[in-house]
Order: sequence, then C-alpha cells, then structure tokens
Amino acid sequence: MTDLMPALEAIVRDAGALMRSAFDAPERPAYSLKGQQDYLTETDGAVEQFVRDQIARHFPGDGVLGEEAGGALDAARLWIVDPIDGTANFARQIPHFCISLGLMVDRQVVAGAIYEPMHDELYIAQLGRGAWLNGKRMRVSTVGELTAATVEVGWSTRIPVATYLDMAGKAAHAGCSVRRAGSGSLGLAYVAAGRTEGYAEPHINAWDVAAGLLLVTEAGGQVNDFWADGGLRVGNQILATNAALATQLSVLTSIPLMP
Ligand code: IPD
Ligand code: CA
Repeated sequence: MTDLMPALEAIVRDAGALMRSAFDAPERPAYSLKGQQDYLTETDGAVEQFVRDQIARHFPGDGVLGEEAGGALDAARLWIVDPIDGTANFARQIPHFCISLGLMVDRQVVAGAIYEPMHDELYIAQLGRGAWLNGKRMRVSTVGELTAATVEVGWSTRIPVATYLDMAGKAAHAGCSVRRAGSGSLGLAYVAAGRTEGYAEPHINAWDVAAGLLLVTEAGGQVNDFWADGGLRVGNQILATNAALATQLSVLTSIPLMP
C-alpha cells in the first residue's frame, strides 16, 4: 500500500490550525450540550466539514464517518473522524484536545493520525510502517509493575457511574496512578508514546479510537478487539496497554486482549 501518511498529516495539521485559531480567539468558544456533559461547539462542525471536503477532494469516492454528521458505514474505504476529541476541554480553555482521523479498508484500520494543535504534536501510524510522534518512532513503555503504572480510565454519561468507578477503583486499589484527562484519542496516543501504561473505558465510540488503536499496536502495545460486536456502529469497551502489563490490566479490567 502506498504511503498514506503525508496526506493524513496535511489534513490533520490544517484541521488543527482551525481549532487553534478558534481556541486562541479573544472570546471563549460558545457551546451547547448535546446531552449531560456532552459538549458541542461551532468549531466541531466546521472542522468536520473541512475534513470531509479534503477527503472528497483527495480521495473521491471514499466514505466518511464523523462524530458530528455521521455517515454510511458500508464503504470499503472508510475514513473515521473525530473533529475535536476533548471538546469539553476545548470549551473550557483547557489545551488538551485533538483531531483524530483513521482510514479503514475492508474493515481494518490501515492508517491513522492524531494531531494535538496546542503543543504541535502529531501522532501518526500506518499498518506495518510503525507509529511516529513528530517524526520520532514511538514505543510503548516497558513498565511492568502496576505500582509504577499510570493508567487512564475514561468516563462518559453513556455508562452508569458505578461501572466507571468500579474500573477506576480496581486500578487504584492495584496501585496504579489513575488519571482522566478528557480525550480518549490522546489517551491512546499517550499509551503509544510510552507516557502512560494503559487506557481503559467501559464504552467509547469508533471515532474516538480508530486512529489510536493502530498507534498503540504499531508502537508494540496490545488492544482488545474493539471492532467486534458492532463496535464501528455502536462503540465498545476499550483497553489499550503496553506489552509488559497486558495480562494484568486485562484481568483487572475484565477486558480480553487480542494476541
Ligand atoms: C469524549 C472524550 C472522553 C471519552 C469519551 C468521549 P468528546 O469525546 O474522548 O475522554 O472518555 O468517551 O466521548 O466528547 O470529547 O468528543
Ligand atoms: Ca470524541
């Protein structure tokens, strides 16, 4: 397969520039709530439209699934975009958000990029070609003890509070440092970059993870079979981990990993 990374990089960098200029504008971005704690700004829609236009221009005929405008799922070549992952952070002027863009071909993610515009960090991967952070090869961490591990446990109002607290509590009782930074995509990118040892969440959507799953596996980590049981359509639970803690984190979260 041809090198898809230059095209991906160009799209997410330009999308990131749109986000950054909205973030840096004198007025705080106006937001509405799609539901409890589910933020939406004008920039989410504008960035998604920009990405759709770029894909139509450079890859005519490909399908697009986006967080804001949806899309048909049956295309053999399907781009999956979260225009702003971490929208609550973006709306609150917290500089921890990103765009996530992945390409699935015949139901397999073959390329993905996450761009975090406020720190100019580009995480990018292509199947069999490795995962890269600003041009440097990424590898998952080698930490093999839960008492030295940092694990992010994601949260949303889509699942009962008790389910989230149970997962986070088990990680904390096992000795992990538990964090929640509000962007599942960046949570996965951090595992790939070796900044944290794991990311787990009881339910997350395809646009949050399409790129990040590939980043983690190309960086030598392990993930669950997110795409099983209709993950593309309705989301799924997720676990991404370094290799050294794979078994322990799988047992702790009760989420089976792929070999
Ligand atoms: C959310 C974030 C959050 C994760 C949720 C997502 P949004 O996406 O990634 O960290 O825990 O599951 O829905 O609303 O910021 O695009
Ligand atoms: Ca998201």
